[in-house]
Amino acid sequence: MHVAMVMDGNGRWATRRGLPRAAGHRAGAEAVRRVVKIAPDCGVTALTLYAFSSDNWTRPSAEVSMLMRLFARYLRSETAELAGQGVKLMIVGRRDRLPHSLVKAIDAAEQATASGTRLELRIAVDYSARAAIRAGTLLPDVDLLIRTGGEQRLSDFLLWECAYAELWFTERMWPDFGAVQLAAAVHEFHSRDRRFGGLPNREAV
Ligand code: FPP
Repeated sequence: MHVAMVMDGNGRWATRRGLPRAAGHRAGAEAVRRVVKIAPDCGVTALTLYAFSSDNWTRPSAEVSMLMRLFARYLRSETAELAGQGVKLMIVGRRDRLPHSLVKAIDAAEQATASGTRLELRIAVDYSARAAIRAGTLLPDVDLLIRTGGEQRLSDFLLWECAYAELWFTERMWPDFGAVQLAAAVHEFHSRDRRFGGLPNREAV
């Protein structure tokens, strides 16, 4: 089962606590750690996380560079653990605009986890679904798309791959997302009648 996540709400989570937005992103990275760890137990075999969209370059440069450093730090500190968990890590999106140090961390993390078979973890950085469609760099079809932070839109994420995805939205901010919410979303997914344009199951002959 391929689950995709738009991790929205880090900034609001921090602002509500009187903290700088950077603290929200750091808490967001903790949520990533938690979710990656428990995802296979929820039946997730592929997980794609939207960490930085190609439109996010318009954010203040201090926030952009903070995020780039956070991604590199996550990769360096998590690689051994991910490899041990059987996670195969891949970064999707453009690499030519990323800081060199991040590209090096990506290469090392991808190499070190290349033989993982328990979970395909894709992290989308400088990613645009429209650009991916134009370039023909498509990912596996998404079964379930989760978006936190109360917004209900796709924001240029996996537009092609979500053709028949079930959508699940929550008001909860990304740093507060965890095992309970993932299990609830997966549970609801299994209760939905996926028809792919055909007839409901009960009417099939
Ligand atoms: C959206 O919240 C979040 C981002 C643009 C960044 C996502 C980054 C993380 C979850 C942290 C680390 C990720 C990895 C893979 C280690 P927002 O800033 O738009 O929040 P807001 O809508 O409340 O302003």
